Amino acid sequence: MQFFVDTADVGEIKALTETGMLDGVTTNPSLIMKAGRPMLDVIAEIADLVEGPVSAEVTATEADQMVAEGEKLAGIAPNIAVKLPLTWDGLKACRRLTGDGHMVNVTLCFSAAQALLAAKAGATFISPFIGRLDDIGLDGMKLIEDIRAIYDNYEDLETQILAASVRTVDHVQQAAIAGADVATLPPAVLSKLIEHPLTDKGLAQFLTDWKKTGQSIL
Ligand code: G3P
Repeated sequence: MQFFVDTADVGEIKALTETGMLDGVTTNPSLIMKAGRPMLDVIAEIADLVEGPVSAEVTATEADQMVAEGEKLAGIAPNIAVKLPLTWDGLKACRRLTGDGHMVNVTLCFSAAQALLAAKAGATFISPFIGRLDDIGLDGMKLIEDIRAIYDNYEDLETQILAASVRTVDHVQQAAIAGADVATLPPAVLSKLIEHPLTDKGLAQFLTDWKKTGQSIL
């Protein structure tokens, strides 16, 4: 499973690249607003920091304008994935941009039928939003499972499932079990993946016992 980080904060991304676990980055207009910096500058800096796909979202709502914005964003760096919303115009733009060789991440997916449409439109990634479905009392993980089952039924569908709106470590574990290709994680969740109290307790005990031996390895 690949790990992307869901942030437009360059400092956070820089810190996470040092873990060696970062395979890409996703952003959206809300994250750009939070970063409080010009989008094109931020995307260029991120694309320079990470080798993998960096999703940059269009804000137009009509297909021709989406393609124009998508081409501009894709022109920033070869690792840009143009992020498009799951609308008919978004799917039209998706077909055109992927046809021209660009990566496309179709976002705001809340149903398996929508994911099927995105795959038929040639999307590189589909972003089902787990947390936002959970928020309204639905089962976000069931959507990942359904999309996996559907995509596996058809060899010609090559779209990668990018589990988005991830809120917890358990979301990551369950998405991996369900066969999501990628999970995009808020930085705090990515950092938490390593945590287990028994790891800390076990290490403390090993170090205490080692000290008692009076030995040193080097
Ligand atoms: O970038 C899309 C997605 O990951 C947003 O997550 O937490 O705003 O629902 P969230």
